[in-house]
Amino acid sequence: MSQKVNELFDRLWKQYIEITPSANKIHKVLGGGSELINDHVALRTFNIPNINLEVLATFFIEMGYQEKGQYEFKFKKLNAKHFEHPDKTLPKVFISELRLELCSDNLNDIVSRLVSQIDDVALIDNSFLYSGTHWQVSYQDYLALLDESEYAAWMAAFGFRANHFTVSVNLLKGYETLHGVNQALKDNGFVLNTSGGEIKGSVGVMLEQSSTLADQHLMAFLDQNKEIPGCFYEFAYRYPQENGSLYQGFVAASADKIFESTNRR
Ligand code: NI
Repeated sequence: MSQKVNELFDRLWKQYIEITPSANKIHKVLGGGSELINDHVALRTFNIPNINLEVLATFFIEMGYQEKGQYEFKFKKLNAKHFEHPDKTLPKVFISELRLELCSDNLNDIVSRLVSQIDDVALIDNSFLYSGTHWQVSYQDYLALLDESEYAAWMAAFGFRANHFTVSVNLLKGYETLHGVNQALKDNGFVLNTSGGEIKGSVGVMLEQSSTLADQHLMAFLDQNKEIPGCFYEFAYRYPQENGSLYQGFVAASADKIFESTNRR
């Protein structure tokens, strides 16, 4: 079972670094070429019945993952859940979905035009999770979505893929703190997301997170090519709970700021 999960993450990783070259460079800076352990992998979708959070989650549940936490992001109109595998060496999975009933008619029109192009056959196995877009979007529609929801615009441009991978700083050799990781990244010229401060969270909420700003990607829109933000890399440091084991959940206030790593610079 773990092998099947590892194969899936391998596919997601390869697709992710195609548009996130900085992640590969950061791998070399932090890991010196050796394997890094991921804390979690994050995916995005719309809450349309055939492709919603639950549908994406099913592919992970079939591989032994269990739902462990629910989160709501009112201002961004998102719901999210996180999933854990009994094999603790496997990354957690964080899946969010945009609540379309809270969005404008115009946004709904554009999204349904795109999503209606998905062939049901694409949904029969977990390759859907790294299937990218099943449509082409115009730059004008991208901008219209961006005006209302950065999340919707990102989904329209990039589709189904890992939005980010997250290095477990606890399991990262040679680093004791998230601050140390951030310093190494900045010393090597990487730009961090400073929304809500470089470090989101604290020992008080048992989780600290930081992230790079998304790499710029030259996107071939229906009508023109434009550079837009793609995917980013995240770093997480977890603190022990009273029982001694590391906290495994997420902190909504921090995740809210991490979402902004794909905002336009
Ligand atoms: Ni994350």
